[in-house]
Amino acid sequence: MHFKVVFIDNSMKYLIAFIYVIGTVITFLKADLKNPTILISILARNKAHTLPYFLSNLERQNYPKSRISLWIRSDHNSDNSIQILKAWISSVKDEYHSVNTEFIEAEKNYPDEMGPGHWTPERFRQIIYLREAALEHGRQIWADYLLAIDCDVFLTNPNTLPYLVSRNFTVIAPMLNSEALYSNFWYGMTEDYYYQRTEEYKPVLHRKNLGCFDVPMIHSCVLIYLRREESDFLTYNPSKIRNFDGPSDDIISFAISANRSGIPLKLCNEEEFGYIMIPLDEDDSLELDYEHLVNTKMAVLHEYEPLYVNPILKPYERALPEKDSLVFDKIYMINLKRRHERRKRMLTCFDELGLDVEIVDAVDGQALNDSFLGKIKFMPGFSDPYHKRPMKLGEIGCFLSHFNIWRDVVGNKYDTVLILEDDIRFEPFFRTRVMALMSEVNKIPNWDLVYFGRKILQDDEQWIEGSNYLVQPGYSYWTLGYVLKYNGAEKLLNADPLSRLVPVDEYLPILFDKHPQEDWKKHYPQRNLIALSAAPLLLYPTHYTGEKGYISDTEDSVVIEEVLPILKEDL
Ligand SMILES: *[C@@H]1O[C@H](CO)[C@@H](O)[C@H](O)[C@H]1NC(C)=O
Ligand SMILES: *[C@@H]1O[C@H](CO)[C@@H](O)[C@H](O)[C@H]1NC(C)=O
Ligand SMILES: *[C@@H]1O[C@H](CO)[C@@H](O)[C@H](O)[C@H]1NC(C)=O
Repeated sequence: MHFKVVFIDNSMKYLIAFIYVIGTVITFLKADLKNPTILISILARNKAHTLPYFLSNLERQNYPKSRISLWIRSDHNSDNSIQILKAWISSVKDEYHSVNTEFIEAEKNYPDEMGPGHWTPERFRQIIYLREAALEHGRQIWADYLLAIDCDVFLTNPNTLPYLVSRNFTVIAPMLNSEALYSNFWYGMTEDYYYQRTEEYKPVLHRKNLGCFDVPMIHSCVLIYLRREESDFLTYNPSKIRNFDGPSDDIISFAISANRSGIPLKLCNEEEFGYIMIPLDEDDSLELDYEHLVNTKMAVLHEYEPLYVNPILKPYERALPEKDSLVFDKIYMINLKRRHERRKRMLTCFDELGLDVEIVDAVDGQALNDSFLGKIKFMPGFSDPYHKRPMKLGEIGCFLSHFNIWRDVVGNKYDTVLILEDDIRFEPFFRTRVMALMSEVNKIPNWDLVYFGRKILQDDEQWIEGSNYLVQPGYSYWTLGYVLKYNGAEKLLNADPLSRLVPVDEYLPILFDKHPQEDWKKHYPQRNLIALSAAPLLLYPTHYTGEKGYISDTEDSVVIEEVLPILKEDL
């Protein structure tokens, strides 16, 4: 390194001092501005199950509460939504600028209402009235912004509110994830104001396209910049829109009033902001909404953090379900002790799903000693098809972990068990779907193993005759989760794999005789394992290779192209 000594003469010093002072003044002036004021409108109806999460996550927004006013309405509840709101308000009201509430406890439901997902004309009139009243209130109190947010939105990103404000749009919504392909925006609208399926929807939803997009419809979490003059044209009330022949629907009216006034509706997905629950259909029960909540909580758990709940609201959380082991004698989960984040996450999943699971400490490949390794024999000529290398310690540890469970199954004479790894994501309605699947499986006279999660490598797999959820698996990778019968465990042990070891996800396809490599198969002459697979799969990896957060205990850097699970057709 060469240093050059710079001499600063006096006039230079003054100039630098002057620039410094100006800079400080500018910073000071900027810092001197208070945050814009926000009115947050909350309409809660039969949301006792979501309110603890909704309110807790709203509270965590990085925005000064002294600049926020709350406008809260609740009526026609058959649950204790109002009680929860009151408890919360009494604990936080001093932090907010003001809280305006109106709770009506007399009516439990609307007279001609079939269920919680049924929108009678009167219910529509009420929601239009309330949304419009919130908008009017915001204008009246000179709020800079109105955040109209629904109680089934969980803003897990605490910077959502400052982000939305900073974008400086008249109407903006953060894109919200769900348990499936549902979100809080439409990318297309038909002439008669219905949802229109478009090519653009999925790339935005999956954040392949990032940015702020002009869309015909946003809802459930919308920030309106009330200081913009044009915002005065916005309305939720269809009768205020001239020559409007659309339905009496609050969000459609809002979208049309924006469009007619030339106000773009901005949907932004530059960051992950949070989650939204799938709404109920007309004849759905509240029970289904509880299941959607479980699904959403599981989707949030895709990363390690569970949905936050303020301790004040803990007493109002729905009780976790009783645990059982589904239709299995035992459910095992293999977990490396040092991967405690994964263990914690999986334990939370089991609590939510009501699964009684035995945690099995995985064999740590890194800790295997030479004398033990010396006794294992690898398959002659085996090399990883991608890397042409012998097995890694992690792969050996993984094999032994599964192997030990197979021995436990035979030792205890269990009839049927479920074996899970610890980096998995459960599909929505996991319990219900397992039950439906297993009732099909049990009609099949002979089987040894059913994959719940794997990487499919062949695209011509055959359906099992007469089944709705079962295919004959071809060559596959991964052992995320599988059901094993006693007979299956016996076959896997009897083939004596420790004397010609391959990774466990090569071993299974060899034993059910779908391995493409003939020279590997000949080392295992008995290939009579009868394997089935769930279709669609019930388990997926939490992280795909290359994705943020991906750590593998068996592979270091295999690049496998991303597989996006097909969860549910978009609505
Ligand atoms: C926001 O938009 C207004 C025009 O409505 C403009 O005057 C202002 O400079 C913008 N602010 C920022 C920070 O971009
Ligand atoms: C209003 O809707 C029409 C038709 O969908 C569209 O072409 C136009 O861009 C929309 N205007 C705004 C401001 O979003
Ligand atoms: C090596 O590991 C095996 C199995 O984990 C264990 O039983 C054995 O005692 C170990 N031997 C030594 C010398 O540490």
